[in-house]
Amino acid sequence: MTQLGVNIDHVATVRNARGGAEPCPVTAALLAELAGADSIVCHLREDRRHIRDRDVRLLRELVKTSLQLEMATHPDVIRVALEVKPSEIMLVPERRAELTTEGGLDVAGQRETLKAVITRFADAGIGVSVFIDADRAQVDAAKAAGAGTVELHTGPYCHAATETERERELDRLETAAHAAWEAGLCVHAGHGLNYGNIRPLLKRVPVEKVNIGHAIVSRAVFAGLENAVREMKRLVSG
Ligand code: PXP
Repeated sequence: MTQLGVNIDHVATVRNARGGAEPCPVTAALLAELAGADSIVCHLREDRRHIRDRDVRLLRELVKTSLQLEMATHPDVIRVALEVKPSEIMLVPERRAELTTEGGLDVAGQRETLKAVITRFADAGIGVSVFIDADRAQVDAAKAAGAGTVELHTGPYCHAATETERERELDRLETAAHAAWEAGLCVHAGHGLNYGNIRPLLKRVPVEKVNIGHAIVSRAVFAGLENAVREMKRLVSG
């Protein structure tokens, strides 16, 4: 059965808008777990625009399921990650001007650099997932670099403008997922998933876990976080 990872970054974005302590992303994580989340995801960015070091430390202490730390390969963030030791690291590309992660990591183009980072985490007993576009060359490079998991970028599927385009993106995701499973990698998926597009994805693409943030936090504003997580969990579990 597919698992649900809940990304709580946007709770921190609202908190930081007023510079205070509310709403608290750690409280959000604990409520999400009570409502059925299988793991909690947060992104420690180089600029700390939403999640901060203290949040990650508190989450590590209090999250009971599993904590996945999303990050780029900035030395300063690697240092925090090695100190906090989350359950898993997810490596993503990061650009200061972007609104959110915009594309998959080019693992094929920086295999040796990433291999060195992945080895550092492996030596510390932390598994690594890499966020990649649904592309065979990236799957093979992820395997060669030592990642145990790939997270397939679902943005192009979620933002497809026509049914034909959407089908083409589903085909790409399905092919990449099968290639990854065959290579012995675990497969996750995420980015842009919501209450409407999750079932069609899961009907076609075999994934162990989906990571979802914006849609859940958006619905939580009106329905409450526990209701929002519970409903998504119901859809993800099929
Ligand atoms: N997976 C990755 C790698 C991401 O960067 C994000 C966005 O932080 C997500 C999943 C969740 O995306 P969304 O907020 O669109 O659900």
